Amino acid sequence: MAHQRVLLAVTGGIAAYKIPELVRALRAEGHTVRCAMTPAATRFVSPLVLQTLSGQAVRSELFDPAEEGEIDHIALADWADAVVVAPATANVLARMAHGLADDLVTTLLLATRAPVLVAPAMNVNMWDHAATRANVELLRARGVAFVGPEAGWLACGWEGEGRMASPADIAEATLQVMGPRSLQGETVLVTAGGTREPVDAVRALTNRSSGKMGYAVAREAARRGARVVLISGPSALETPGGVERVDVESAVEMRDAVFKALPDATVVVMTAAVADFRPAQAAARKIKKEDLAEEEGLTLELVRNPDILASLAEQPGERVVVGFAAESHDVVEAARRKIERKRCDLLVANDVSRAGAGFDSDTNAVWFVWPGGDVEELPLLSKAEVAGRILDRVEKLREERG
Ligand code: C5P
Repeated sequence: MAHQRVLLAVTGGIAAYKIPELVRALRAEGHTVRCAMTPAATRFVSPLVLQTLSGQAVRSELFDPAEEGEIDHIALADWADAVVVAPATANVLARMAHGLADDLVTTLLLATRAPVLVAPAMNVNMWDHAATRANVELLRARGVAFVGPEAGWLACGWEGEGRMASPADIAEATLQVMGPRSLQGETVLVTAGGTREPVDAVRALTNRSSGKMGYAVAREAARRGARVVLISGPSALETPGGVERVDVESAVEMRDAVFKALPDATVVVMTAAVADFRPAQAAARKIKKEDLAEEEGLTLELVRNPDILASLAEQPGERVVVGFAAESHDVVEAARRKIERKRCDLLVANDVSRAGAGFDSDTNAVWFVWPGGDVEELPLLSKAEVAGRILDRVEKLREERG
C-alpha cells in the first residue's frame, strides 16, 4: 500500500501514555503522522514527545494564530487519509455522536471526509453506561470503525472492558480502514502452520511449517475488509488484528474446526502443512526406553490422516478454494496432478528446497497452477505480497461467478 497520511487525534485519558508507541508503529508502516490533541490530552502525554516521534508539528488549539498559520484546521482535516482517535474518552464519543465542534479535535472530526477509527479507553462503568452504548451504536451506524476496548485491569482500579487496544492492533486496524475493502462481505477461512500428531504424553510428530504464509493471507484478507477465521496449528506468530483465530493441534482437530467454520466461508485458503499420517495410537503415558529390551528399537505404526482439502469438493455450498503444495522436486508436474486430485480452484505450489522459499522464510517463490494445467510463475516475493497476489485472483474468481 502506498504511504498514507494519518491524523492521530489524542484525547484526555490515561491510555494516552501509549500513544508514542502508536506513532512509532504507524511510522514503521511508512505513514506520515500528524497529531492533534485535546487540551486534556496534553496533560497525559507531552506534545513534544509526539512532535519528536512524528516529525511533525502537533496541534492542540483551534484559535491559535501560529498553529493555524502552519496548517489551518480544514486543511488538516482534508489532508488525512484516515483519522484515528486514540485514546477516545467517553466524552469525545459523546461529542462526536452529537456533532459538536467545540475544540480542535471535534472540529477536525466533523470536517474530515476520511474514514475514522476510534480506540476507546475508559472506566468499565463509563463504557457500559447506556449513554455511551447509544453513542457507540450511533457512530458505528454512521460508519465509524472501532478497535477495542479490551477487557483487563484498568488504571482506575476496576477490572473489565475499557482498556485501549494495543498500539500494534490500532496500527493494524488503521491499515484496514484505509484498505481497498475489496473483500468486504466475504468470510475467508484460512488454515495455517503445521499439525502436531501425538505419539505419547510428551512426544509428537510435526513438520517445519512456521505458519507465516497463512498468517500473511489472513492479515491481508482482513485488510481488504473480509471476516477472517484463521485455523492455526501450533505457532509462535501473533494473531493479526481483526482476525478470529482457532487453535488446533492435530489434523483431525483441524478438520473438525474447518468443517465447523465452513458453512459461513465464501473463500477457503488452505496453507497448513497437514501431517499425512498420525500414530495409530497415541500412548496416554510417556513411552520409556526402560520398558523396552536393551538395544530394542521402537516401531511406530502410522495411519492416514483425512485429506481436508480434498474433502471440501464434496461439501455443499459455493466457495472459492485455494490449496497449497510444498514440493522438493518436479514442482509443477506434481502440482498439476495435485489440482486434479484435490479439485480446488487454484493451487499455489512452491519448491521448499529453494533458498528464500518455503518453510519459515519471509519470502516465497511460487507457481499458480490452474485447473486444466495452466501455470504462472511468480518472482521471489515477500509472503505478504504473495498473499496479495493470491487474494487478487480470489477476488477475480468471486467476481466471475457473480
Ligand atoms: O497432499 P499435500 O499435503 O501435498 O497437499 C497440500 C494441500 O492439501 C495443502 O493445501 C494442505 O493444506 C492440504 N492438505 C489437507 N489435508 C491433508 C493434507 C494436505 O487439507 N491431510
